[in-house]
Amino acid sequence: MTSKLLYQFDTDTTASVFDSVVAYDGGADHVTGIGNVNPKNVLAMVDGCIYTRAPKDKQFTAIFVGGSSLTEGQAVFDAIKKRFFANFRVSVMFDSNGSNTTAAAAVANIVNTRDVSGKKAVILGGTGPVGQRAAALLSLEKADVFITSRSIEKAEQISAEINKRFDTNVKALPGGTNDERVASISRASIVMATGASGVVLLNKKDWIESESIEVVCDANAMPPLGIEGVELNDKGKEIGGKKAFGAIGFGGLKISVHRECVSRLFHSNDGIFDAEEIYRIAKEML
Ligand SMILES: NC(=O)c1ccc[n+]([C@@H]2O[C@H](COP(=O)([O-])OP(=O)(O)OC[C@H]3O[C@@H](n4cnc5c(N)ncnc54)[C@H](OP(=O)(O)O)[C@@H]3O)[C@@H](O)[C@H]2O)c1
Repeated sequence: MTSKLLYQFDTDTTASVFDSVVAYDGGADHVTGIGNVNPKNVLAMVDGCIYTRAPKDKQFTAIFVGGSSLTEGQAVFDAIKKRFFANFRVSVMFDSNGSNTTAAAAVANIVNTRDVSGKKAVILGGTGPVGQRAAALLSLEKADVFITSRSIEKAEQISAEINKRFDTNVKALPGGTNDERVASISRASIVMATGASGVVLLNKKDWIESESIEVVCDANAMPPLGIEGVELNDKGKEIGGKKAFGAIGFGGLKISVHRECVSRLFHSNDGIFDAEEIYRIAKEML
């Protein structure tokens, strides 16, 4: 039996332990975690993956791209794909900071409760890796999506990047103060928080009596949570007539999707696991 080898290319100084553990649990026989990977130094390592095994065994070598920066990870992911030609390729998964798997699990859960098409969705603290991918996926589901930031210029710039990558129409709203965030969620049906760990972005009194809000979803797992009143384990729990999802509530699906994607990396040598494919798998698994 040919060994399943996973090369974990991480843009941070050291490769993520989290991603390594999930890779073993996803079925890799051996995981090699390499830090400080960039679009230049990755090329020789890609060559090592694509030239070493006979065509029938190439599917047992695969690549995972991770790290805390979505932008740096995207550059490495793009460089890897560009290096492939003909059948000189291996399957590759992109999940910097858990962006794709986390957003896919959250959005799959939200969409499982209702059709979001045409509805206003606001992602508080939506400029990070998870928020960006969640914005894209909700927009691909035809929701009218807005991301907030402490800097409107940053939110506008990130929205433009999301729209360029996904051909979507994500827009920016201010989110620097509590009043701005409350104004931004006015008439929203879906409110998601993807702010940094331990940062409260919305108080319970500001959403619990809203007549428009149907779903609240908080990705932050470190207390205090991002949306006050949503609990970690909430998984579609009814609160004030709204469906609530907490970070652990949808996080089980996130881990399962991550493992499943790693497992599928070894099914062929031409798989590309980015937001769209990972989201498709999340919906399939729910
Ligand atoms: N449930 C799960 O399975 C799972 C998996 C992975 C991650 N997570 C969680 O998901 C959340 C989002 O992850 P991420 O990596 O995308 O987050 P992140 O990049 O660390 O932060 C997201 C955004 O939060 C804002 N922010 C940072 N510090 C802040 C502060 N002091 N006050 C207000 N806003 C602040 C920033 O936006 P601006 O600068 O634009 O304001 C930043 O872009 C985190 O809480 C993370 O722990 C959950």
